[in-house]
Amino acid sequence: MDNKPKHGLARGLTNYGDAGFSLYLRRSFAKSMGYSGEMLARPVIGIADSRSGFNNCHRHFPELIDAVKRGVLAAGGLPIEFPTVSLGEVFLNPTSMMFRNLMSIDVEEMVRAQPMDSVVLVGGCDKTVPAQLMGAASADVPAVQLLAGPMMPTSFRGERLGACTDCRRFWAMHRAGAVDAQGIEEIEGNLATTAGTCGVMGTASTMAAIAEALGMALPGTAAIPAVHSDRLRAAEASGRRAVELAKNPIRPSQVITGKSIENALRVLLAIGGSTNAIVHLAAIAGRVGVRIDLKKLNALSDSTPVLVDLKPTGQYYMSDLHAAGGVGAVLRELRPLLHLDCMTVAGETLGERLDAEPAWVDRNVVKPFEAPLSKEGGLVALFGSLAPNGAILKRSAADPKLFEREGRAVVFISLDDLAARIDDPALDVTAEDFLVLQNAGPKSGYAMPEAGYLPIPAKLARAGVKDMVRISDARMSGTAYGTIVLHVSPEAAAGGPLALVKNGDRIGLSVKARSIDLLVREEELAKRRAQWRAPVAPPSRGYAKLYMDHVLQAEHGCDFDFLRKA
Ligand code: FES
Repeated sequence: MDNKPKHGLARGLTNYGDAGFSLYLRRSFAKSMGYSGEMLARPVIGIADSRSGFNNCHRHFPELIDAVKRGVLAAGGLPIEFPTVSLGEVFLNPTSMMFRNLMSIDVEEMVRAQPMDSVVLVGGCDKTVPAQLMGAASADVPAVQLLAGPMMPTSFRGERLGACTDCRRFWAMHRAGAVDAQGIEEIEGNLATTAGTCGVMGTASTMAAIAEALGMALPGTAAIPAVHSDRLRAAEASGRRAVELAKNPIRPSQVITGKSIENALRVLLAIGGSTNAIVHLAAIAGRVGVRIDLKKLNALSDSTPVLVDLKPTGQYYMSDLHAAGGVGAVLRELRPLLHLDCMTVAGETLGERLDAEPAWVDRNVVKPFEAPLSKEGGLVALFGSLAPNGAILKRSAADPKLFEREGRAVVFISLDDLAARIDDPALDVTAEDFLVLQNAGPKSGYAMPEAGYLPIPAKLARAGVKDMVRISDARMSGTAYGTIVLHVSPEAAAGGPLALVKNGDRIGLSVKARSIDLLVREEELAKRRAQWRAPVAPPSRGYAKLYMDHVLQAEHGCDFDFLRKA
């Protein structure tokens, strides 16, 4: 038997019991698409295309993929694109998060099952990049991540607007009566006006920066705006590089390692990135057998300064970060804290990359290490009797006046309950209370939606209240802000302590002590525990059943148990 490694179209033959026949048939059918024998003898470079009519962020992919193909052809490869699941953030019910693992399975299996020597992963909108990185890590075929790039901000009546921090800001003003119906309709048409991903430091921008920090995207490519010609050059370069990777493989398992994940966590903290990225990075790490310890996150957070002044916590947009020097400028500031020996898909180590790069930086956008926006990182993990396995608070987006306090719980038992009662004028609530949302975690039936940004009750919003302590097992959009405790684990729907909270209970929060505690006697909690019932019946079929049977808690990245590396 011929055990030589196979390349190009000869990889992973369809099994007819006769390898020669399989290859002949495959070449014949490929020729039916008009390829010459010379083209079919080249290394095959897959292009994983996540465009869809339901994904506004990816609407420029045809042009981007043409540029990838140009790069592949110029370097002597054969580019072959293939579709995968696409996840358009605002078009999915109950939430895109439910389908991230489905997309990762699609990417993994199609990369492995189809004959490609390397692959360019083209994604951008929120869950698509983690799904592609998770799938690529498991398939372990050489891969380059090509990001969609951020949208451009709009100029609107003398103000810069960008999705989606401004979406939330104006909606909050509308709820408080400061923007009327006609005004909000006009703003609706001006928030997202170009191709690309949300232009603030939301989840998509954070995951783009993480893809570059991990070494899976080419240097300098994370922050290039979607509509900038540099984005097309990055696409061409990614195609070229994929051909080199096909000839001299560097596999995702050589790039995504414990050290590069720590580098990515440093970058996440320094850019004041999205809380969602903790979940996604934990899932990516799990695919290569690395566990992110939330206590370690706190240690990294204490020693990593916030350097980047982007919305939602600052004032600039991703297009400004690109002009200011991009993720490279952030990496250079963080250099003393990074593992410089990490290999990247560019074929050089992180240290070699930083040595070779120009030192341009716009200090308005990227602050120096010695004079940061904040000496400590933006995210912290909290532990305590309310969250034995951890919870996350984005302290850089929160009001420090609310950090050390005890409050009375005002409990909503589900998202439907929240929607029905939050604006009820009779709701017994004050600005000092803690709003608690139960049953919005991974197994809640809502699949951990971005509902942790509980609205301020209308009567308090009208009275000028801008922030309150809000606690849930949900996630929060990376573009949101407020004193919001998220990802409480174990979640309420799995019977975690969050499920036992009742109206009027006292809860203690201390960001300094990294603690969140339910201040109720154990005997009382034991009684409530005995009465607890799961809020939803398990689904009986389809992907919903697979999801519910296998999804893990937030600290494991909400991946499926059978997809993590043992
Ligand atoms: Fe696609 Fe925000 S909707 S990144």
